[in-house]
Amino acid sequence: MILDLKDLKPAEKQYYLQHVVAPRPICFASTIDKEGNVNLSPFSFFNLFSSNPPIVIFSPARRVRDNTTKHTLQNVMEVPEVVINIVTYDMVQQTSLASCEYPKGTNEFIKAGFTEEPATIIRPPMIKESKVKMECRVIEVKPLGREKGAGNLVICDVLKLLIDDSLLDVENKMDQRKIHHVARLGGDWYCKVDESNLFQVAKPNTETGIGVDALPAAIRNSKILSGNNLGQLANVNEMPIIDPAFDDPRLKEIILYFSINPDEMEKELHTYAKKLLDDGKVREAWQVLLAF
Ligand SMILES: Cc1cc2nc3c(=O)[nH]c(=O)nc-3n(C[C@H](O)[C@H](O)[C@H](O)COP(=O)(O)O)c2cc1C
Repeated sequence: MILDLKDLKPAEKQYYLQHVVAPRPICFASTIDKEGNVNLSPFSFFNLFSSNPPIVIFSPARRVRDNTTKHTLQNVMEVPEVVINIVTYDMVQQTSLASCEYPKGTNEFIKAGFTEEPATIIRPPMIKESKVKMECRVIEVKPLGREKGAGNLVICDVLKLLIDDSLLDVENKMDQRKIHHVARLGGDWYCKVDESNLFQVAKPNTETGIGVDALPAAIRNSKILSGNNLGQLANVNEMPIIDPAFDDPRLKEIILYFSINPDEMEKELHTYAKKLLDDGKVREAWQVLLAF
């Protein structure tokens, strides 16, 4: 299917885009109007766009149903300050509740059952229960249109970042496994981040990886190694060479049993290398592949 966005109704555009641009982190925005009434609403059109200057942006959109604007947008135009509370799994149901369309002036801290805590340098309150919060000054509001569904970029300068000590290790470094972020996908779908679904990808650092094009053809065209496997192998800084000290019983076994049939041997070696790569053992996988 190829969709031409100009042929879709606003609700259809929203439907497809929100399913495919996912998962999105959630900014739980606490704002006040010029009378000081507090508002709390979640926004998943949200991300970090710059670390220096420290800029995050979220987008309260015009309602697809009736083209009205959100109270949060009205508030930041009146008082350009916002606390962005990061949403974690233990808060997700109350966060969803706070997204109900309560009348203007309703304090969703009370409706959703969260506790207000004074921010350190701005007027809107923080959520006591949230483990990460950002006190921000709104530096610009940029409307993206006047039609139903049009977003309004609320560009925020992060002034203070408050992190609960329970998320830090002894050296004050973040422990990603402890945060348990939740993120929004399409429709009613959310996902949560925890140790069962976190994984690491070795970052190509200052030295560049050799690239898939530099892999030997037999590896590059393997019917067994996946795209992820090729990405791992091609992330080495230079083409590895055979290490005579590499001593692996399974490799020995494969050579012993399959050397009379090169096609079968290549298949076995690639299958074993794939297993090693899937276990994160790139150096070992290279040694297995170099044995052919
Ligand atoms: C997890 C979640 C994410 C949401 N993300 C957005 C968003 O990015 N933009 C938006 O306009 N509305 C979003 N909504 C809907 C608003 O939270 C909802 O319209 C809310 O009533 C706005 O409140 P307000 O009028 O008090 O600002 C989201 C709702 C939920 C539950």
